[in-house]
Amino acid sequence: MHNQTLLATELSTPVRRKQRGTHDRATVNTILDEGLVCHVGFVHEGMPIVLPTAYVRIGDHVYLHGAPANRMFNALASGADGCLTVTLVDALVLAKTAGHHSLNYRSVTLFGKGRRVTDRAELAAAFRGIVEATLPGRYQRTHAAAEIDFMATLVIAFPIEEGAAKVRDLQPTDEPETAVDFVGVVPVTQQVERATAVPDSPMPMPHLSAIFRVRDHEVDALRAVLGQAFGWGPRGDLIVRDRISRYRRAEPSGWFGVHAQRDAQSAPELAAGGGCLTFGEIAYLGLVGVLPAFQRRGIGRILMERLMRYADARGAETLLLDASAAGAPLYLSMGFMTTDETWVFSSEATASTANGASSSPRVRAATAADREAILALDRQAYGADRTRLLDACLTDGRALVHEQGGFCIAQDAYIGPLVAAQKDVAAELLDAALALPFSRPPEVLTRASQPFMPQLLAARGLRHARSLKHMQKGGALRPPRPLLCSPQSLATG
Ligand SMILES: CC(C)(COP(=O)(O)OP(=O)(O)OC[C@H]1O[C@@H](n2cnc3c(N)ncnc32)[C@H](O)[C@@H]1OP(=O)(O)O)[C@@H](O)C(=O)NCCC(=O)NCCS
Repeated sequence: MHNQTLLATELSTPVRRKQRGTHDRATVNTILDEGLVCHVGFVHEGMPIVLPTAYVRIGDHVYLHGAPANRMFNALASGADGCLTVTLVDALVLAKTAGHHSLNYRSVTLFGKGRRVTDRAELAAAFRGIVEATLPGRYQRTHAAAEIDFMATLVIAFPIEEGAAKVRDLQPTDEPETAVDFVGVVPVTQQVERATAVPDSPMPMPHLSAIFRVRDHEVDALRAVLGQAFGWGPRGDLIVRDRISRYRRAEPSGWFGVHAQRDAQSAPELAAGGGCLTFGEIAYLGLVGVLPAFQRRGIGRILMERLMRYADARGAETLLLDASAAGAPLYLSMGFMTTDETWVFSSEATASTANGASSSPRVRAATAADREAILALDRQAYGADRTRLLDACLTDGRALVHEQGGFCIAQDAYIGPLVAAQKDVAAELLDAALALPFSRPPEVLTRASQPFMPQLLAARGLRHARSLKHMQKGGALRPPRPLLCSPQSLATG
């Protein structure tokens, strides 16, 4: 496994606004995976030159290809020093004063020497990767790169070793009391448009599906798409929005949407979306949905591949999800295996009237002082550090703790995670959670491998609503998690 941070040398440490810089490899990889073009600087006969080119990140290298006559490729192939940058512009920052106008951006700067690639498999992977980075799913519809391309092209591998990322995601920061005009940020989005064919293009453009990271201003559109894909109706819609907002608080960069065309004439629109949360070695993929009119066109696969790539960028090796009947065959075909069943129990009436549960004196609302103990218990129960996710949920003030050791979080329409070693502790936490108000009758998830929860849930009048396949890809097979009586939710594991 590679280092989690890039080399922090004098060259690679930002000089100004250091707090915006990071050597974190996951951040660097995530930015590199989102860009379409990089700029490479090199020195030619004493003159600095910077040239743009397409690229792809594969593992710990950025790959570029170009003509041998190109001075930049020549310089890199012969071992010259290079500097490679990628910049994503996220917003225009409109301040009160001219001097404070700025951009919100994410950028990466790498320093190093390129290596000329000669290995056939690596050459093929670079060609494929650059096409797929341009438009996912495109490579299989083109002539594969062959010997002639390898001979006519220089392929360079540039190391992701020494460098840094820099991120600005702020409102304007200037001080004058009065403004003369609007002050704030204007999001900037990269968007594909209808395709234009060359005159002799033999085929019409197949339905275009391009993938983008979902930004804050697109969350409502994403909610609408997922609400429709899952068929949850208007109330479900609200719940999806709450949930997406909460999970984005934990990891805003992990959500992707697919812009696709209904037909060749129509403009691309948001047709699908889904998210990923990473907990160190583990990534959880969730809320993947494609609008009914766009299903069975390969969009689900493209989205899953992007989420998997995102997980890889952040160093996660074990991918987990809970699959619906619609999703399971797709995930199986992508190498996921079923390791357990997740059972969704639902409480039809509002909980407090449904079972008349009385709260145990051994259960109380969690306070800030319980945070460390909750995080430690969850780490033990889940097998990974979920601090960011739990922090995003704990702010809601609906966490309960048990004096015997155990906790439970009541979300908007879910109860979970519920962590307890004994049945009576789980039962008391569950009863206390069920007694809280919910925006709709809550669901509680549990796993087939969990020893006592199904019985307990049935005894409390909850009914088994549906079963999902708990699936894993990559990493060592995860053992059952007996302390984890109820997972977090369908979207976060
Ligand atoms: C599950 C879901 C995300 C799959 O999305 P999708 O875009 O339809 O998926 P894909 O098109 O990539 O693949 C689905 C199937 O269509 C097939 N397919 C792909 N392109 C195709 C095409 N052009 N023509 C016909 N079939 C095609 C795939 O081979 C795949 O078949 P398989 O299931 O036998 O492997 C989507 O059905 C959905 O949103 N369902 C409702 C919400 C849901 O259940 N989400 C999953 C939660 S886990």
